[in-house]
Amino acid sequence: MTRFHQTIMPSVKLKSFLSLVTFLFLSACQPDINNDRTWSVYKADAESSSYSPLKQINKDNVHLLQPAWKFIPNDSRNNRIGSSECNPIVIDGILYTTSARHRLYALNAGTGEIIWSHDPFEGGEGGGINRGVTYWEDGEDKRILYTAGDRLFALHALTGKPVIPFGDSGKVSMNIGLRGDPATISVIPTSPGIVYRDLLIIGAEVSELYGAEPGYIRAYNIRSGKLEWTFHTIPHPGEPGYETWPRDAWKYAGGANDWAGMSLDKKRGMVFLALGSPTYDFYGADRKGQNLYGNSVVALNAQTGAYIWHFQTVHHDLWDYDLPAPPNLVTLEKDGKKVDAVAQTTKSGFLFVFDRETGVPLFPVEERPVPPSLVPGEEAWPTQPFPLKPKPYSRQSMTDADLMYHSPSSYDSLLKRFRSFRYEGLFTPPDTRGTLMLPGTRGGSNWGGGAFDPATGILYVKSSDSPEIELLQKIETEKTAGSKSGYNQGMSLYTKHCAACHGRDKNGDEPNFPSLVGLSARMDRETALEKIMKGSGRMPGFAAVMQGNEEAIISYLYDKADRISRKESYLLEIRENKLAAKDSSSESEPSDTAALYLNITAYGHFRDPEGRPAIKPPWGELNAIDLNTGEYAWKIPVGNHPEYQKPGEPITGSEGYGGPIVTAGGLVFLGSTHDKKFRAFDKDNGKLLWEIDLPGVANATPCTYWSGGKQYVVTSVAGDKENPSGYLLAFALPQQ
Ligand code: HEC
Repeated sequence: MTRFHQTIMPSVKLKSFLSLVTFLFLSACQPDINNDRTWSVYKADAESSSYSPLKQINKDNVHLLQPAWKFIPNDSRNNRIGSSECNPIVIDGILYTTSARHRLYALNAGTGEIIWSHDPFEGGEGGGINRGVTYWEDGEDKRILYTAGDRLFALHALTGKPVIPFGDSGKVSMNIGLRGDPATISVIPTSPGIVYRDLLIIGAEVSELYGAEPGYIRAYNIRSGKLEWTFHTIPHPGEPGYETWPRDAWKYAGGANDWAGMSLDKKRGMVFLALGSPTYDFYGADRKGQNLYGNSVVALNAQTGAYIWHFQTVHHDLWDYDLPAPPNLVTLEKDGKKVDAVAQTTKSGFLFVFDRETGVPLFPVEERPVPPSLVPGEEAWPTQPFPLKPKPYSRQSMTDADLMYHSPSSYDSLLKRFRSFRYEGLFTPPDTRGTLMLPGTRGGSNWGGGAFDPATGILYVKSSDSPEIELLQKIETEKTAGSKSGYNQGMSLYTKHCAACHGRDKNGDEPNFPSLVGLSARMDRETALEKIMKGSGRMPGFAAVMQGNEEAIISYLYDKADRISRKESYLLEIRENKLAAKDSSSESEPSDTAALYLNITAYGHFRDPEGRPAIKPPWGELNAIDLNTGEYAWKIPVGNHPEYQKPGEPITGSEGYGGPIVTAGGLVFLGSTHDKKFRAFDKDNGKLLWEIDLPGVANATPCTYWSGGKQYVVTSVAGDKENPSGYLLAFALPQQ
């Protein structure tokens, strides 16, 4: 496998190269205030490189790496275990991070001591996903921008006090300026935006169901909070791409949102978006067409929001194959020339590489025929783009031979189910018979994305192999308009306010959000009601919306079979979406009386009846891909589940969504495995050089920075029994 391009350097260049090396070496040894800006943006820099030029910690000494400090937010209640996905940033000796409960902390970057904190929910219990914050400055005016719920906050970076001239005394509601009524819709950014001059450019998460809001990209003036421009990711009449939808879809179709973050080419003034699927994720009869800019990398003029180019990675998505991470802005070598490029990781396992200025793929991409949909009304797009290089980093299909053998009966049941699906490989449309999906909606790779080493042109990506099952079921929408009995009303409240965390089917998402199935056996009604009204741990209080509805919500939680059908709750969310999105000027409600289909097993792993994985390992790998050649430098399983490792076989690898980082010290750091470890690898060959046990899973992308003459590596770690709020753990070399 080729790894490097040999370049013959003329002696003049060599000299300046050496002086650059000397400069970097010196600056890595001396405390220098400027070097405290070594990780000042989400994923290291505006290019989302996840790369650090630091090398105090390197291949020779990383085995000595030891805990330097830890920060425990201590903001959980009732011993609920939280897991922060935050990638912290560091500015002039202050580290900014968010906890699982979604509070913002400013810490001394050298000691972990708290300087200030901010509670966006003002005493409410908070929660929700937050992957990081954004910094902006103009002279002495230094600000932190971050989001919680639908609100965008501007705080003074040194004190944590709100910036009063920004919006409404330091905050703006991002519900304002979308399509629906700001009072009833809810858009929730989860990844930080990006700063260009005085603009914060940012996307958001929206519902995944019918009637969702569109994922417009917005740019806010950082001085005033004013909305400066909006890019319609679902084009309006007259805008390019409008023709890829039904005529009125811009009034009702949703999604095509950027929840994963974006990247910026400052010199060119271009911002690069990674857009998600249009809604509904798994059935698109009401959005026939290619559906631009769903699942597209889009380049915009950062100052104006004007469209420059796009590349759609999935046409008319039916698989929830959102682009899950900010594009990596990279420079690679092609035919002996340096080319500025954009590399996009995906959930499908493909890696796309484009010319940065034109969007033209730098490796061949073929439009290949894919299976048609068999579901009435659906028109799957007949072809999909397949990059011929690099090869996918996750498995994209499986056969009987890939089924895991746990026991005879487990194998029989897996085989029987596997054979019952409609399955014709990648891009088999979801079906009423059930379809297998590999990679699943979790990827491939997910929000951790890629880490790019500018010295070698190698991109590092954590991947997972985890098949899921999609099962479409037909639903008559008229039935949604049933009478609101107490129970139904409770269900509707639940779908609106609770399902995001506890799941539409009440199954929760352990360990973050408890299942509410079987609640009656664990908790009496009064206790539950008190939790609902006042909040508890990472769960916010709901007194404001539940007052007067106590009986309804309790009847829904207790009175019927605990597990309601997903179908019913989906229908309620759809109805709520539609009511919220209803715009008085829009007389065109799509398919209100037509049949709809819902994927009632969405996000369900393919597992045996005991919950064991259905596919043979590896389940998680670290990939090193040379972007100059499109070849793999190396690929290794990462993480282990010893209970499933067969004698004499390699480690199993472990699923996980956080990303790696790479350093000039020759190292790749990665958490993101279920075995609760944090690791450092030799970036040249994937050799494990250091690992440490953690109290919880490092469900985050780490960061590394320079502070007070030292290089630190820091990662967010999920909580445990002792410290349920989670940890921020810092590692450094021992004092010489
Ligand atoms: C932002 C996420 C979130 C939302 C929204 C949310 N919850 Fe929770 N809920 C949690 C978490 C986390 C816990 C565990 C809290 C703890 O005790 O630490 C919890 C706990 C509970 C419990 C106690 C369960 C147990 O076994 O201890 C009940 C009951 C509950 N939630 C009901 C609701 C209801 C009803 C709603 C909607 C009105 C709701 N929750 C909305 C996150 C959420």
